[in-house]
Amino acid sequence: MGNPSQPLHTRLTELLRCDYPIIQAGMGGPGRSELCAAVSAAGAFGCLGMVKEKPEMIRTEIAAVRARTERPFGVNLVPSVTDPILLDEELEACFAAKVKVMVFFWDVRPDIIDRARRAGCTVIYQIGNLADAIAAERAGVDAIICQGFEAGGHIRGKVTSMVLVPQVAAAVSVPVIGSGGFGSGASLVAALALGAEGIHCGTAFLATNESYAHEYHKQRIVDASSEDTVYSDVFAIGWPPQSPVRTIENSVTRLYSDNLSGHGPDDFELDVIAQDGDEAVCRFSTYSPLQNMTGDLEALALYSGQLCGAINRVRPAGDVVREMVNDANHVLARLHLLK
Ligand SMILES: Cc1cc2nc3c(=O)[nH]c(=O)nc-3n(C[C@H](O)[C@H](O)[C@H](O)COP(=O)(O)O)c2cc1C
Repeated sequence: MGNPSQPLHTRLTELLRCDYPIIQAGMGGPGRSELCAAVSAAGAFGCLGMVKEKPEMIRTEIAAVRARTERPFGVNLVPSVTDPILLDEELEACFAAKVKVMVFFWDVRPDIIDRARRAGCTVIYQIGNLADAIAAERAGVDAIICQGFEAGGHIRGKVTSMVLVPQVAAAVSVPVIGSGGFGSGASLVAALALGAEGIHCGTAFLATNESYAHEYHKQRIVDASSEDTVYSDVFAIGWPPQSPVRTIENSVTRLYSDNLSGHGPDDFELDVIAQDGDEAVCRFSTYSPLQNMTGDLEALALYSGQLCGAINRVRPAGDVVREMVNDANHVLARLHLLK
């Protein structure tokens, strides 16, 4: 941690040139320019979730963030689940647009880390276990996001943030960021206490006005309690076999309640249940309901972390950031850590 009189000023805020050590997770689908810009404009660090998006869309979204704010932001890609030719185009679109921070996820890819660093980017990798954290540091990343099992969306590891973050913080020298279950000022202070230098929040920013998630998805998060999430790999079409996710319980997880794990994309018939513009969306796909989608939204992947139980309304993303920072300062004062 940096200056003891300014606990929220860490090596992460230095690295990312933002005011607060809070990164908005780059959520493929919901995490577009409106959300990213709102988070960055509030002093945290927004991130475009661009997994599997076409390069034209990436260029447009980067320009749209820059039109809304001059604050720094990053772009998230997931290399190992993306067709190599598309990944190459996505990376080139980011580098040509002079994106300063790339955030990657899933298995550690030294080749991609090296390529992004040679393009001049700061590289952050989200991992889900200690071995991957060590591999990511060895491959040259600038910071490591530790994703715990309580997280929403795709889940890489098996242990909770509380257990993983301190182990990784003790093992690496680059800044560590807690991910999974973080979304309040108290959890930010807890992350700092565990040895992290910031937090990475998906679910907390999913239920905001600016997120591109469909209102139905936002409302399901507001209505859900923490017990309502399910860990499974039944939303399989679009990712490699046995890629687990955390979603809110729905007709699909209920159908497979005795058989939630061990699935791959080839295990399911293609059954179109929704439309994303011209694109057909199938049951069991990794798509979540977005604002422009129509169809059987209930049966899509309603990604959410266990944090949903603490989310009671949809709010502006800037308010979420401001409340986290205010509450963190109150908690620090209560713990006599802030003079
Ligand atoms: C709707 C949703 C979509 C996500 N999409 C991505 C993604 O495209 N890339 C990625 O690296 N992580 C993605 N994640 C996972 C987040 O990076 C992060 O690990 C997770 O949100 C942290 O847990 P939390 O939801 O409790 O904050 C997604 C999470 C959610 C909730």
